[in-house]
Amino acid sequence: MKRIGVLTSGGDAPGMNAAIRSVVRSGLHYGMEVYGIREGYKGLLEENVEAMTYRSVSEIINRGGTILKTARCLEFATEEGVSKAVEAAKRLGLEGIVVVGGDGSFRGARDLSRNGLPTIGIPGTIDNDIACTDYTIGFDTALNTACEAIDKLKDTCASHNRCSVVEVMGRHAGHIAMHVGIANGAESIIVPEKRFDLKADIVDRIEKADDKGKSHFIVILAEGIGQASMMAKQIEEITGVETRATILGHIQRGGSPTVQDRVMATRMGVKAVELLKEGVGNRVIAYKSGQVVDYDITEALNMTKSVEEDLVHASQVVTE
Ligand code: F6P
Repeated sequence: MKRIGVLTSGGDAPGMNAAIRSVVRSGLHYGMEVYGIREGYKGLLEENVEAMTYRSVSEIINRGGTILKTARCLEFATEEGVSKAVEAAKRLGLEGIVVVGGDGSFRGARDLSRNGLPTIGIPGTIDNDIACTDYTIGFDTALNTACEAIDKLKDTCASHNRCSVVEVMGRHAGHIAMHVGIANGAESIIVPEKRFDLKADIVDRIEKADDKGKSHFIVILAEGIGQASMMAKQIEEITGVETRATILGHIQRGGSPTVQDRVMATRMGVKAVELLKEGVGNRVIAYKSGQVVDYDITEALNMTKSVEEDLVHASQVVTE
């Protein structure tokens, strides 16, 4: 391939810039021209592109967000939208595309590939909810951001002998909740993948911790469960422990990426370009058992993953 494009799509994630940098520099390394496509698939439809140089991705490896911007594009979700995008790519001379995003973005990558435009997906989302991979770019940074915020909440909880119900992001997945819950020593971690019982999983655990002399209680609630304020009210009524609700929200999506996110983004970017270089499309890059590998997109989209049982077990053992 002589000319490829790169775009970021869906929710932004720290490390997307590191991935763009890696794709651009790998492409240049292998003698290709690399075009940055602005605002995801929408930018492809609008032919909103720029030729990238080695220098245009300087000093971005440490920056959160995405210099190419991102969007969720409804037009692209239709058959006509996909055909229009393939035509646009032809006019621009783009022979392959790298898409950094989540599951929704990979469906677009599959459709482009099926319509003759080889496309490779790189998993970029803070949620770590892409089944084919153990890791998605942005997850580690989001965990550290949430962990630091909850450490601060613990200070004020301890001063007032309070409980905090903290809602963390993750759409329908509990990976962020599970990891920060363990890292912050939460009494309870409530995730959408597991049924929960207010008394057994929250109230009894707070009362047990109270009996042991604990002066602060943290309940982590994954976004998919919601209702943080209502839960805080119920906990306060039943236990008598003053309780506040905090929704961490989009703060978890920003900030300078951690070393893990920068390195993972770099490795995945190189792998994506090396596949395109061989003329291969319709693949998702994944991190599996310590290796950067790739899967057929349809196969990847059909996989499922849940929160790891050993994390659930460990979180309960150490706070019992
Ligand atoms: O997928 C990443 C994510 O941050 C989810 O955790 C969250 O549910 C969603 O995006 C929020 O999307 P938006 O930024 O469109 O509100």
